[in-house]
Amino acid sequence: MKNEESVRRAAEIIKRGGIVAFPTETVYGLGADAFNPLAVARVFEVKRRPHFDPLIVHVSRYADLEKLAVEVPSIVKRLVERFWPGPLTVVLQKREKVPDIVTAGLSTVAVRMPNHPMALSLIEMAECPIAAPSANPFGYLSPTTAEHVREQLGDEADLILDGGPCRVGVESTILSFLEETPELLRPGGLTLEEIESVIGEIDIQKVKKGRPDAPGMLQKHYAPHTPIVIDRWEQKLGAFRGKKIGFLAFRKPEREMEGGPMEILSEDGNLKEAAANLFAAIRRLDALKLDVILAESIPQVGLGRAIMDRLQRASGKGEIK
Ligand code: TXA
Ligand code: MG
Repeated sequence: MKNEESVRRAAEIIKRGGIVAFPTETVYGLGADAFNPLAVARVFEVKRRPHFDPLIVHVSRYADLEKLAVEVPSIVKRLVERFWPGPLTVVLQKREKVPDIVTAGLSTVAVRMPNHPMALSLIEMAECPIAAPSANPFGYLSPTTAEHVREQLGDEADLILDGGPCRVGVESTILSFLEETPELLRPGGLTLEEIESVIGEIDIQKVKKGRPDAPGMLQKHYAPHTPIVIDRWEQKLGAFRGKKIGFLAFRKPEREMEGGPMEILSEDGNLKEAAANLFAAIRRLDALKLDVILAESIPQVGLGRAIMDRLQRASGKGEIK
């Protein structure tokens, strides 16, 4: 009941042109009415996000996609039927009425239906699609709890909806459908394996080379203040002698590591659990004012691709090896 009341208040704020932080299954978003350019402008301002970086438009029903995109190819229909609501964003040619500020002047729009009851009822009650980036200051790690949002955006949002920790923990997978072959722009919470099981092979070349067409995919992104180094720990320990080191482990190490605090993403190396813990774990290490965070490599399968992508960006290297 209490939740329903706060969602109702949040929807009123969106309707009046305000901005609201809200939970999704991936990360928290900072949302505004997608058809209100002034409200969307405030999102950019609060996030200190450059205007060349377009926002994802969040919808609560399939029909809204058809209102935003000129045409929905059958391959996209098949995908969203299977994976919406969920961590999949599709990029399509936009309709003229989608404001330029949302799409950063591009002729395309990115759309997704989040799989979180609070997000879905917020969109329903606000009676408009909601344009929202992740609710972090530009360049920093995405928030996976309402507390993260509070710490960083304080009272700059008109309201922060608390839906608990995000279940998925990494942002949505972004696919573009402008070319013959669907193209991966950002690995994320929906795995390549799942996507390809429905539509066959997709083009991952640009992401592999670290040069996707999502304008927000800057090499250094999702970054904590502490430098992150991804390497074999034994090989780096000597080089960092005398420094304050923190460790980010994928699974529980076989032997104890000495010399600094450690975060374990998943005791038994479960990728889902690791993704859900990733950003909060890095934040906790970042708060310790260390000289360096030594991170372990993650297997490049399933969600491992998205986790490794975020780790590499956090360390300033965009490339996926
Ligand atoms: O899981 C998510 O996707 C979260 C939650 C809140 O939904 N949102 C999110 O938004 O991660 P943001 O703004 O942090 O990242 C959106 C990415 C950016 O890299 C942006 O450049 C790209 O999507 N993007 C948005 N519109 C696009 C378009 N028309 N063409 C290509 N890339 C686009
Ligand atoms: Mg973001």
